[in-house]
Amino acid sequence: MSLDEKQIADFLSSASQAAETVLETVKENGVIHVFSHFDTDGLSAAGIVGRALFRLDAKFRVRITQWIDEKIIGEILSEKPQLIVFTDLGSGYIDLLSEKLADLKILILDHHQISGEATANIVHVNPHLYGIDGARDISGSGVAYFTARAMDKANVDSAPIAVVGALGDLQDKYDQRMLGGLNGKIVEDAKSTGLLTVEKDLIFFGRETRPIHRTLASTTSPFIPGISGGEDKSLAFLVSLDIRPKHNDKWRALRDLSEEEKKRLCSALADYLLSRGLHYKVSNLIGHVYILNREEPWTPLRDAREFSVLLNATGRMNKPGLGVAVCMGDRGSALEEANKVLGRYRRTIGKHLGWVMEKPERMEELENIFVVNGEDYIEDKIVGAISSILSTSLPNPEKPLIMYANIIEEEAAKFSARTVDMVTNMGVNLGDVMQAAAEKCQGKGGGHNVAAGAQVPLENVTTFIEIVNELVGKQLKGEKIGS
Ligand code: C5P
Ligand code: ZN
Repeated sequence: MSLDEKQIADFLSSASQAAETVLETVKENGVIHVFSHFDTDGLSAAGIVGRALFRLDAKFRVRITQWIDEKIIGEILSEKPQLIVFTDLGSGYIDLLSEKLADLKILILDHHQISGEATANIVHVNPHLYGIDGARDISGSGVAYFTARAMDKANVDSAPIAVVGALGDLQDKYDQRMLGGLNGKIVEDAKSTGLLTVEKDLIFFGRETRPIHRTLASTTSPFIPGISGGEDKSLAFLVSLDIRPKHNDKWRALRDLSEEEKKRLCSALADYLLSRGLHYKVSNLIGHVYILNREEPWTPLRDAREFSVLLNATGRMNKPGLGVAVCMGDRGSALEEANKVLGRYRRTIGKHLGWVMEKPERMEELENIFVVNGEDYIEDKIVGAISSILSTSLPNPEKPLIMYANIIEEEAAKFSARTVDMVTNMGVNLGDVMQAAAEKCQGKGGGHNVAAGAQVPLENVTTFIEIVNELVGKQLKGEKIGS
């Protein structure tokens, strides 16, 4: 589906209205508080807005949060800033914001599914309002980007960060992992300023920083039997193709291969998969790669997908300020720290995945969903990341996965639900499921069709899981679940 001009024009005009709201507040010397979501897209959005406000010499502060709760509302009420900006969150909380913050000026720049009607004090920019798909055509950082661009043309230099945000939200859903829709326009902006290059290349993760044999070994889509998970085997595979894994003393990354070597690797992989009965199209090994030209080669910032993982790491490891600083342009101490956090994050993810795999019964199969109970072992901030990884390699990809962990101090459980496009094409919308199920259990849920979350009181966890199972079943039968 391509977007029509009217949808785009209407969306952009709402972004301009949002820009006006910010500019007016700055002109009146008002204080602006920005609240953003703690994932890659949220940190990118905060970075884009932060950079734009910094340029205006505005009085502002940025806070990163997992959700909007009474604590945040209380804090806002006690400080009464002249403008509150929510980025990459807010659209699921409209009723709460309308009710509790009725006297304050609010700007929501989001792409999550909308629940509730905005009151007059809220300027709400969201692609869903114009029939634009917020799960693949634009992300929260994209909405922030168009608003920043309307504030000042100079903010076009944040376009690569919006690309990073969109990739963090897995929006590269167009052919050969391309960003399309309004994201495509952001890519064009970034290219036109020379900040971004788009290439078609082997799509394996780690093209700038990982030794090739490690890149191959850690690939799970496609899963390459005998190579995925085995670094020594993938090293032998490269050697058999006459591809040198090292140049002098330095491991070579995918970026270092010549065109000829890449072709050889690509066709050998296709042959290898075929010889094991796996019909994987060569074209699926190739995808769009987004390269940030101004960043140092061989670092995680150079490749937009690696950049997005670095940001994700800072958010999930309780260091979101580092991610925001990097998005705002800090390439000194914040980047250095963020790189260390990335190392720690990788080890944490490895440990947690190992914990789930160690006992097969930790993944329970119900009629319509898989359920993983992270107990007290998996931290609530990591649940989303682990469930995203697990959801790509389920025994039955037709069933969504829900995973949860206990947040003891809040006497609640944090749920993350994930599925694949094939299942949403069959009628499943996890955002709607989590919202409806949470409402029935005194919790709060929402999100996107493929990825959604919820917080639910501990005593209602069992009921919640049963309801989710039932609602997914209903959607699969084409029934409406109402919310
Ligand atoms: O927390 P998790 O990563 O599982 O969330 C998946 C998506 O669902 C995120 O984009 C998050 O913002 C959204 N979500 C939501 N409302 C909730 C919980 C999560 O919109 N109550
Ligand atoms: Zn987002």
